Amino acid sequence: MSATSLQPRLATPADAVAIHALERHFPGDRMQLRAIRRLLRVPSARIWVLGRGNELVAALVLLLRRNSRHARIYSLVVAPEARGRGLAQRLLDTAETFARTTRLSSLTLEVRADNQPARNLYRQRGYSIESELPDYYDDGAPALRLRLRFEEAAPPDNRSGT
Ligand SMILES: CC(C)(COP(=O)(O)OP(=O)(O)OC[C@H]1O[C@@H](n2cnc3c(N)ncnc32)[C@H](O)[C@@H]1OP(=O)(O)O)[C@@H](O)C(=O)NCCC(=O)NCCS
Repeated sequence: MSATSLQPRLATPADAVAIHALERHFPGDRMQLRAIRRLLRVPSARIWVLGRGNELVAALVLLLRRNSRHARIYSLVVAPEARGRGLAQRLLDTAETFARTTRLSSLTLEVRADNQPARNLYRQRGYSIESELPDYYDDGAPALRLRLRFEEAAPPDNRSGT
């Protein structure tokens, strides 16, 4: 499968097993199939995937909270054979565009402190370290909480111009 021409699409319930298979490439704390099926049903989650048909090579899970202008990137994974071709960037472009157009003010996520590829990716895109979370993962590894803030829209100018 040529990865360079793939475009993100919203996942459907039919993608649950393929998303779960991608999760095995995640370093620790993976989502269970049952959790993925639930996220595919609820309005508080958006999952975008890259692939052909139900053969997926990448997925991003975004969690929304009612009455909140902040959302959380819960999972981002690219299959090893498709890495290094900008697919993570493409999924993040999609999630960040969604966040901007729905007027969210920031995106947060947690990343393993020792996950240098992911840290490079987020730093390059302007995510900054908000806090350190010791003993965050099942194996006791620490995480960093990162945040990407969006510019506040300028308030409407009500002056009459005089
Ligand atoms: C991290 C991950 C999502 C990157 O996916 P990818 O599609 O290979 O990333 P891209 O090709 O879009 O690369 C974008 C940037 O990420 C960084 N990056 C990606 N792979 C890297 C590596 N092996 N070493 C260092 N930096 C790396 C670079 O900054 C890169 O930009 P550049 O190409 O201009 O150097 C992928 O390695 C992955 O799925 N890892 C396992 C799951 C995971 O760690 N998810 C993130 C958890 S928060």
